[in-house]
Amino acid sequence: MSRAPLIVANWKMYKTSKEAHEFIHALTQEIHPGRRVFIAPPFTAIAASSLAAAGSQISIGAQNMHDQWEGAFTGEVSALMLKDLEATFVILGHSERRQQWGETDALINKKIHLALKQQLLPILCIGELLKERKENNHIQILKHQLQVCLEGLTASQVASLIIAYEPIWAIGTGQTATAEVAQETHLIIRSFLEEAFGLDCSRKACLLYGGSVKPDNIASLMAQTDIDGVLVGGASLDLRSFINIVNF
Ligand code: PGA
Repeated sequence: MSRAPLIVANWKMYKTSKEAHEFIHALTQEIHPGRRVFIAPPFTAIAASSLAAAGSQISIGAQNMHDQWEGAFTGEVSALMLKDLEATFVILGHSERRQQWGETDALINKKIHLALKQQLLPILCIGELLKERKENNHIQILKHQLQVCLEGLTASQVASLIIAYEPIWAIGTGQTATAEVAQETHLIIRSFLEEAFGLDCSRKACLLYGGSVKPDNIASLMAQTDIDGVLVGGASLDLRSFINIVNF
């Protein structure tokens, strides 16, 4: 995956397909040339979003998918169904999925393999709890998450995906990791990738920071050497605020 600046919006369980279409249409009018933007609307708004983004520099993806091709899984959505709606990427292992649906690193690993087989670009989310950081356990926790989630992947597969570092204590709390803390952690992630998959992979991997990204902290985050982009929740829902992030 290229390391050119990338802004990803995670809309969670917000916006109908009409709202998504209007938002994306308005965004295409104001986005600066050369900016790379990914938007993950709810499943129900993916088709309308793909239509609104057609021909622009905005790519549409999903917030989750099932780990099986198909089957008797009431209420679930498969990778093939996402491709059918022209989704190009999928967020996997978001902390809300891990905490509220009990998703494990092993399950996320299965999903990553399946997404890659289906040519959907995975955005793997990892992150530690406040308690883990306070006890200085965060490095071990992050390395373990990476180890299990990336198991069985080749170096070139790992280099092709996106990894988002989202400290759980910074998600939706207004408490952002300082740019320095985020940079320091991204460097740890890149060093792990070098150790496990080689220098070329660690140099190519696109690393995002997520957790209370706002128009007023985007520039300092993006100025860090190892931060290639951001994953934005709350501040991506409001058009003006998201435009200010995208065109930082
Ligand atoms: P936030 O969410 O920007 O609202 O903190 C980030 C995320 O959940 O990806």
